[in-house]
Amino acid sequence: MSTNINTEKLSSARFATATDAFVEVFTASVDFDQRMAAQDIQGSLAHAQMLCSIGVLTPDELAAIQTGLQQIAVEIANGTFQWSVKQEDVHMNIEARLTDLIGIAGKKLHTGRSRNDQVATDIRLYLRAEIASITAQLHRLQVALLDLAEAHYNTIMPGFTHLQVAQPVTFGHHLMAWFEMLKRDRERLQDCFKRLNVMPLGAAALAGTSYPIDRHMTAELLGFSHPSANSLDSVSDRDFAIEFTAVGSIIMMHLSRFSEELILWSSAQFNFIDMPDAFCTGSSIMPQKKNPDVPELVRGKSGRVTGHLVALLMLMKSQPLAYNKDNQEDKEPLFDTADTLVNCLRAFADMMPHIQPNKANMLQSAKQGFATATDLADYLVRKGMAFRDAHEAVGLAVRLGINTQRDLSELSLAELQQFSNTIGDDVFKVLSLEGSVAARQHIGGTAPDTVRKAIQTARAQLLTV
Ligand code: ARG
Repeated sequence: MSTNINTEKLSSARFATATDAFVEVFTASVDFDQRMAAQDIQGSLAHAQMLCSIGVLTPDELAAIQTGLQQIAVEIANGTFQWSVKQEDVHMNIEARLTDLIGIAGKKLHTGRSRNDQVATDIRLYLRAEIASITAQLHRLQVALLDLAEAHYNTIMPGFTHLQVAQPVTFGHHLMAWFEMLKRDRERLQDCFKRLNVMPLGAAALAGTSYPIDRHMTAELLGFSHPSANSLDSVSDRDFAIEFTAVGSIIMMHLSRFSEELILWSSAQFNFIDMPDAFCTGSSIMPQKKNPDVPELVRGKSGRVTGHLVALLMLMKSQPLAYNKDNQEDKEPLFDTADTLVNCLRAFADMMPHIQPNKANMLQSAKQGFATATDLADYLVRKGMAFRDAHEAVGLAVRLGINTQRDLSELSLAELQQFSNTIGDDVFKVLSLEGSVAARQHIGGTAPDTVRKAIQTARAQLLTV
């Protein structure tokens, strides 16, 4: 037997020499995984209770473990807990402290489990809480969008394709497009939650455990829908984390598109909205500047979340079953994804009620791009012309408008009749922006009444989720 057994080292008896000092720091995760301390304690409390119910722990041991873990939770909350790199990660730090506090019962807590199923459980518990926070911010943003859309269900603005004025829409309708995206994002989050809310505890290191554990009991105590079906899979796959970052990437992609529009709209060239001062900053050199920092930053942050998705996919892709230390690298991308989502959604939800549209500029801009040309073509079709011919005739009318710097609605009846003698006085209603939007009354259309109904339906749905 070697005499210089390193007693501080994890699983120390196996090792004859101490870990290299740099390797100790290099392999430790406690600096970042201490964020899961509350979940680690929650998981341990449930595990201990289950161990007691099957007779592996006595009621006294369970009581000691509960008291010890509660004290540790207090120490962590008030900042007096001594985290140590020597104990490598959050799990070992808490267990070591528990043994300090309660002695031998603390050493029994790890019976029938491994850090492999423990960490997989902690991450799932952690993500569950994060999904709740993200959903709460998404909800706030959805409500803010509904409120703004309601106030502007009939505010006319140009709708764009290729960033060229295409057809008039209402600002409310445009905002409701954002609402729909967020609604799907929320559904995706719920779906992701379903798959991650499955309990790995009991898988132990990889093969399960020889103790007669009651996995249903632990799952129920922790609020998981059921225990996982395969121990090897439970400790190794991080697909739920990848799915979470994928959903997060889609949310951020949506916020990035939204940001891009807010940035464009607040520029002097568009001048569609006034960004609230509280969400902008000035320039250190140009006194006149008011920069839309919040949407710019959100647009920028979308990149890091997609980066985390790719990082986790690469982390996972070549790992053989079952657990590998590679998986320790899942934490930082996950934590940052959750933080980024909560913060960006919060900033948007806070900012949205203060967005003021410049109605007059929106209207003026909608008048400039021959936005009712399609309405004139549809009018000619109703008068009996084939759509392709109508398209051609309106093209000529637009050319006259461009040459004489007038909108279609500013051409005289006689001028319009050059392009088709079926055109009558009733054409001017069709050529008005109000007439154009009002005509699109079908489900999903931009008619103000339709938009108002869509907002009402969305609000009612929001109350039920
Ligand atoms: N800190 C580790 C992680 O994050 C915990 C699991 C360690 N398991 C092991 N067999 N080394 O994945």
